[in-house]
Amino acid sequence: MHDNVHQDIEEILIDEATLQHRIAELGADITRDYHGRRLLLLGILKGGAMFLVDLIRVIRLPLELDFMAISSYGSATESSGVVRILKDLDDPIEGKDVLLVEDIVDSGLTLQYLLDTLQNRKPASLRVCVLLEKTREREHLLQLDYVGYHIPNRFVVGYGLDYAQFYRNLPYIGVLHPEIYTGKRLFPTSW
Ligand code: IMP
Ligand code: MG
Repeated sequence: MHDNVHQDIEEILIDEATLQHRIAELGADITRDYHGRRLLLLGILKGGAMFLVDLIRVIRLPLELDFMAISSYGSATESSGVVRILKDLDDPIEGKDVLLVEDIVDSGLTLQYLLDTLQNRKPASLRVCVLLEKTREREHLLQLDYVGYHIPNRFVVGYGLDYAQFYRNLPYIGVLHPEIYTGKRLFPTSW
């Protein structure tokens, strides 16, 4: 299973089969909780894209999709909470049951910004589904309705998550080798 680990990855945290298994559980939870309703899933580009496309295949509800592309300002591995919307949603969300799908919550600042922005648009309901939540202290308490995994406070890549835009295509969640973000090693190494 782990015989083809990328050289820039120090350790695999969650392998592909484990991810898919948990996503199936999340899909079943969402299907049950929204029974009889239709859902608008909002994907956050780019990091949340892989999770979203796998998640919708295990949700048995009539659903619509929309996407927002954002970029958070900050250092390479720490976000500042200052978020720039690069692409807004195509349509209004007023009166709709909205489920925001995000890759990871670290400080929570990005998600807080998104929730405030979306809440202003008057959805009927607004919930959050994140694949990963880092275990750490936060200034503001966030309500995360669906969480795939709680992970240690380390910088991870793969399954949509990047470092400097690379590694999104790794099919697992892995801890990036620290030599890469401390600048001691050129990256990305080829396979
Ligand atoms: P926050 O605002 O600190 O919660 O950071 C959230 C955003 O930063 C996420 O949407 C990711 O794009 C990015 N991010 C946070 N932690 C990681 C990580 O470990 N790997 C890759 N991206 C991360
Ligand atoms: Mg990102």
